[in-house]
Amino acid sequence: MRAIDEKTVTDVALEQMSSTADPRLKEVIAALVRHLHDFAREVDLTAEEWLAGIRFLTAVGQSCTPYRQEFILLSDTLGLSSLVNALHDKRSVEVGTKTSLLGPFYRRNAPAFKLGDSIAANANGKEIAIYGRVVDLHGEGVPNASLEIWQTDEEGTYDLQKRDASEMDLRGCFHADSQGRYFLRSVRPLGYMIPLDGPVGDLIRAQGRHGCRPAHIHFLVGAPGYREVVTAAYLASDQYIDSDTVFGVTESLITETKNGDPSSPFPNLPSLRFDFTLAPAVKDAVSGRVGADPSQIL
Ligand code: BEZ
Ligand code: FE
Repeated sequence: MRAIDEKTVTDVALEQMSSTADPRLKEVIAALVRHLHDFAREVDLTAEEWLAGIRFLTAVGQSCTPYRQEFILLSDTLGLSSLVNALHDKRSVEVGTKTSLLGPFYRRNAPAFKLGDSIAANANGKEIAIYGRVVDLHGEGVPNASLEIWQTDEEGTYDLQKRDASEMDLRGCFHADSQGRYFLRSVRPLGYMIPLDGPVGDLIRAQGRHGCRPAHIHFLVGAPGYREVVTAAYLASDQYIDSDTVFGVTESLITETKNGDPSSPFPNLPSLRFDFTLAPAVKDAVSGRVGADPSQIL
């Protein structure tokens, strides 16, 4: 019998787990145990702090509903989702549009629209046009590429945060034309505070962080034979563009609306141009969606 102390417990635990049949599960959990134990040793974790952590994670779980995913929010605010996105992009053989966060407000089954339609059913904000092209690595249009789009309204609120969260607004599905072009109308989104009324909000306040995200529009773009891209266009003039609470902004995803844009299908509207480059699908690739519709997880 080996003596268990603050050093030997790690190896003893890993030894017992070495019977794990699934090699990837074995690798992931072994690394998790090593890092968790090192973390506890590094901070000299007390029983009280350990219990505070357990309470916190319990509250995170209890805050989850079919319309809210507090664990994803926690992962986002710790920078873990952004890291997983970056690892996903690094795994790609060829470089397409950079990935950004799916976020907790993605919903499956958003309504289908025709090119040129507006996704704003109830929002009263400033109307804008959103347009661009979906191209392959050679700059050739990807015909009929699918685009799912979702965003906040002019007050920085998602439909899921409204009183009747079952109603959908400011989200929709489009298909590009035969040359990969897409265009639609919407309202200018406002940056917003991530949901701070749960345990993640308590942590953000304790850390003295502002809790805001710069204004953005989410896109999920794909086509058969291409690697799906989950990304977002971030508006350059937003005051939080350099301090996103969830680390989703990267240089190549920053853009802004233009007035009088002659290339816009709606030149009279402030127009946001955002193009996508799709890389070929990698064989046996796993999904790059760091997140899911909250109702799918419960
Ligand atoms: C969002 O993009 O909507 C979002 C992403 C992460 C956390 C909260 C919100
Ligand atoms: Fe968002």
